[in-house]
Amino acid sequence: MKKTIRDVKWEGRTAVMRCDFNVPLKDGEITDDTRIRAALPSINYLIDNGARIVLMSHLGRPKGKPNHEFSLAPVAARLSEYLGKEVKFAASDAVVDEDVKKAASELAAGDVMLIENVRYRAEEEKNDHDFAGELSELGDIFVQEAFGTSHRAHASTTGIAAFIPAVSGFLIEKELKFLGEAVNDPERPFAAIMGGAKVKDKIAVITSLLDKVDILIIGGGMAYTFFKAQGYSIGTSLLDEEGLDLAKNILDLAKEKGVNFLLPVDVVAADEFANDSPHDVYAVDSIPENRMGLDIGPATIKLFSDTLAEAKTVVWNGPVGVFEMENFAVGTRAIAECLAGLDATTVIGGGDSAAAVTQFGLADKMTHISTGGGASLEFLEGKELPGIAVIEDK
Ligand code: 3PG
Repeated sequence: MKKTIRDVKWEGRTAVMRCDFNVPLKDGEITDDTRIRAALPSINYLIDNGARIVLMSHLGRPKGKPNHEFSLAPVAARLSEYLGKEVKFAASDAVVDEDVKKAASELAAGDVMLIENVRYRAEEEKNDHDFAGELSELGDIFVQEAFGTSHRAHASTTGIAAFIPAVSGFLIEKELKFLGEAVNDPERPFAAIMGGAKVKDKIAVITSLLDKVDILIIGGGMAYTFFKAQGYSIGTSLLDEEGLDLAKNILDLAKEKGVNFLLPVDVVAADEFANDSPHDVYAVDSIPENRMGLDIGPATIKLFSDTLAEAKTVVWNGPVGVFEMENFAVGTRAIAECLAGLDATTVIGGGDSAAAVTQFGLADKMTHISTGGGASLEFLEGKELPGIAVIEDK
């Protein structure tokens, strides 16, 4: 068990809390603030318990240089709205300097401050010891709350823990509970649905899950590489050439392990990659030469839904079609609706599948939606995440 913010006496102490406020922005406006809302329970707990709070995060990939396109200023404003009090924004291109340290030292109990994007400094991603030391000078206890960035060994996610004690926030605690229980102690039957484009990106997680699941369902762009590996012609559908051999290995491994391994049996294929492109349903052995598969078909929806009906634990990572286009969102919506109606623990890996479930208005019907894309994948692979490893054990 990892120590949490409940295990610290906060009066007179300053929390340096690493969050994942890497939120999508459009024209300087936050378009999805899920990750900001996810940190609120911990921030409110710290406020209520008399801590002084310094928040830090990255946003985007400014490549180690100040770039105001990636400033955390809009996050400070949104946090102020949610907390109902001013979140002081320490706008320094140096991230930490004497002024920022002074501002942190002048905080009163319950005050909240946010420093600028830690990736304005090249030392952040290099996990530079001195930069981690500078960050640690802002407070007394490191609070790890950035689940989405916990697979990165950076100065603000791991390096800082060499200087001050590290505990987790409530979000990390929740992510570890739901993702951990799903993979280590699932109620069975345990099903995983894997989508997305490239076999290569998902090979490690699929291989690891084959040891754990009873049912493995493959959808999305990746399915066409499996069809090709089985000798079907896939028209102009996405092919991950490098993934062909990997797909063959996975097919063999699934057989060897006795996993109920399901691929789509029909697909919706279109002339082009466009929402208004003419499209039809085809069995997977009859995809026309000039068409590309963009969604699963109705027989597949039925097959997948009927199979999932018996599951007691489901982990879903990656959409089963191009859900961003309305005409090809049918399959992904059907899977989301199926999961929403199950009497089972449903865990959604972050990234696209989380976005899809939210887009369909079904987020509150799932047991847990992870705030980590890459991090939840690496967790499901069974890897130790460096940002989690540094949190002290109880
Ligand atoms: C994410 O969005 O997956 C995390 O915030 C990590 O971002 P990164 O891939 O740029 O490290």
